Amino acid sequence: MSQRESIKENIAPPEKAFLVGVEWKEIPDGKFIPDSWPAEESLDELERLAQTAGLEVLGRTTQKLQKPNSTTFIGKGKATEIADTLRMMAADVIIFDEELTPRHQRELEHIFGNEIKVMDRTGLILDIFALHAHTKEGALQVELAQYEYRLPRLTQTWTQHTMTRQAGGRAGGSTGGVGLRGPGETKLEMDRFAIRRRIAHIKHELDVVRAARARHRSQRRRTGMPTVALVGYTNAGKSTLLNALSGADIYIADQLFATLDPTTRRVTLPGGTVVLMTDTVGFIQKLPTELIAAFRATLEEVAESDLLLHVIDASHPKAREQARAVYQTLQEIKAADLPIINVLNKIDRLSDPDAACESLRGLPDSVAISAMKGQGLDTLLENVEEVLEAEMRRIKVIIPFERGELVSLFHERGLISEERHLPEGTYILGRIPDHLVAQFEEFRAGRSS
Ligand code: GTP
Repeated sequence: MSQRESIKENIAPPEKAFLVGVEWKEIPDGKFIPDSWPAEESLDELERLAQTAGLEVLGRTTQKLQKPNSTTFIGKGKATEIADTLRMMAADVIIFDEELTPRHQRELEHIFGNEIKVMDRTGLILDIFALHAHTKEGALQVELAQYEYRLPRLTQTWTQHTMTRQAGGRAGGSTGGVGLRGPGETKLEMDRFAIRRRIAHIKHELDVVRAARARHRSQRRRTGMPTVALVGYTNAGKSTLLNALSGADIYIADQLFATLDPTTRRVTLPGGTVVLMTDTVGFIQKLPTELIAAFRATLEEVAESDLLLHVIDASHPKAREQARAVYQTLQEIKAADLPIINVLNKIDRLSDPDAACESLRGLPDSVAISAMKGQGLDTLLENVEEVLEAEMRRIKVIIPFERGELVSLFHERGLISEERHLPEGTYILGRIPDHLVAQFEEFRAGRSS
């Protein structure tokens, strides 16, 4: 067989997907809160996600609903109608833009038949994460999230596929597409047992990896450098900005969730201070809580930063909604109180940057930049410097020996200029983020400004 033929044989055609979205109708009693994204726009994003996962999108449909149907999510009639369309199109996968319960999944699989894999937004994002996780911790986090998400949804359609893909400990994704058929109900119990065992094993491995990460983090803290985390909607330009500011060479792609593993680089501010800047996983609307939980360790880095740079794609028609989704996630990971600079990126794409940035008003402390063209970066760094200086308070404390945890906190979060052991406790002169000062108040040893 020629080399060309063997390559041809190995490249499977992309799986064909059909998308389903919901337009939520307002309910007078307000018990069900509809999403603020119009169905079509949310489906545009789902389509990009599907393409990122290597799928070919054949079509889409939406239905107006007040609340999800308890068994089939969309109406039963609509589901049957879609089943005919899927058969006609020879689709392989149907993807719902909302999270399906295990019961929805089972009922829908029954309606669509064994030939069609039923997925939801969460499952799709998990597959993309699996494709893009490169570090050991990233791969373990994704694998754990995939198993935990899938365990209650185990059906005959995909167990074997999942286990085979993940048996090597890599979170799945080298196969490209998302759905193959599985072996049948008889293996289900065995699969469940194997998955539970694997979950326990991954959790143990993650504990070890995380302990190492915590050690690195505290080593970094000891360098006394302030830490800045880049957060933002997926594809907003976080990696491009970190590359531009640090001269690093992080992978950039016009793809959703191109960067999954955090990367930290040194960045020098105009006054000479060096900060550690970390690029983190991108956020997305409807980011499911189990995914946030899976990335808890990575996101802890965000919550422990001295400053957040919230990168916004100002050229995106849904920039405002994307920013809102990021703020929501920040609240969930308890990072919403941290000082934040809103960075309006991609202004090179705008014919009237002032007008576009004007429309994003209401976001405090914003700086307009183009990470790609290097515009506005000096102003951004000046702002970073100002905010960091304003956020750190100089204090002198004598901490009694029985309050060792406060000494550790100062080490972790503050910048120490002087430390001595006195008979009455540990004397520290240094700077600490403003919001932590209250914890040291009773041990202040004379005022420093
Ligand atoms: P995720 O990893 O998905 O979270 O993305 P990210 O926020 O790290 O975005 P990334 O830096 O990978 O950029 C996404 C796309 O936007 C790439 O195609 C970049 O080239 C492009 N991009 C980033 N900044 C700019 C900019 O200032 N102007 C323009 N025109 N494009 C930009």
